[in-house]
Amino acid sequence: MSFFENTRKPVGLGGKVMVSMMNLGHTPVATWGLEFLRLSSDAKVLDCGCGGGSNIKRLLKSCPRGIVKGIDYSPVSVEKARKVNHAAIAEGRCSVLQGSVADMIFADASFDAVTAFETVYFWPALPQCFREIYRVLKPGGTFFICNESNGDTDKDEKWTEIIGGMVIYKSGELKAYLEQAGFHDVQIHKKKNWLSITARKRGDQA
Ligand SMILES: C[S@@+](CC[C@H](N)C(=O)[O-])C[C@H]1O[C@@H](n2cnc3c(N)ncnc32)[C@H](O)[C@@H]1O
Repeated sequence: MSFFENTRKPVGLGGKVMVSMMNLGHTPVATWGLEFLRLSSDAKVLDCGCGGGSNIKRLLKSCPRGIVKGIDYSPVSVEKARKVNHAAIAEGRCSVLQGSVADMIFADASFDAVTAFETVYFWPALPQCFREIYRVLKPGGTFFICNESNGDTDKDEKWTEIIGGMVIYKSGELKAYLEQAGFHDVQIHKKKNWLSITARKRGDQA
């Protein structure tokens, strides 16, 4: 298994190294992408494919009176995300669960926002995962996607060649999947090779 397979599902020692690297390496794209996500200070947020948890930490700062939960199917990611956010977990403002985005334990209409940083490339059944996110969002809630690769250049193929099962979606493909799942008001932002998308569940929240 190549070291880079740990981006899809971190395992073992290589996985531990990878989640620490991703916490640092994804900071520029995450910081840029978050400019497009509006959150109230008491928002309830779910970070899907949370990896090492640095984005949970950022979201907790954006919502000082809110709650941020994380979910990831990798035990290595869950362990690191819990470590990085131990203080917020102790305060009862954060929890990190092991599980797949395709089938989540959360009740319908639980979250104001659901985020997915650098992870939708690896979701095996994207339409099912998007429907599941739609289900757990409150009416009017926002789904936010942030990717370092937007599929607009052949250079991205270097990643799909070395990481099994990775798909780099173009913005139009993601928009189509989002609308099929019921989302509307799909907003697309790009910078360099980066992509940030917000999409809303129909409903009455501003
Ligand atoms: C490239 S890492 C990104 C981690 C983090 N979001 C970041 O930006 O640093 C992708 C993460 O998504 C998780 N993941 C991939 N597919 C998943 C799925 N279907 N359900 C839950 N987690 C998933 C992986 O285990 C991994 O931790």
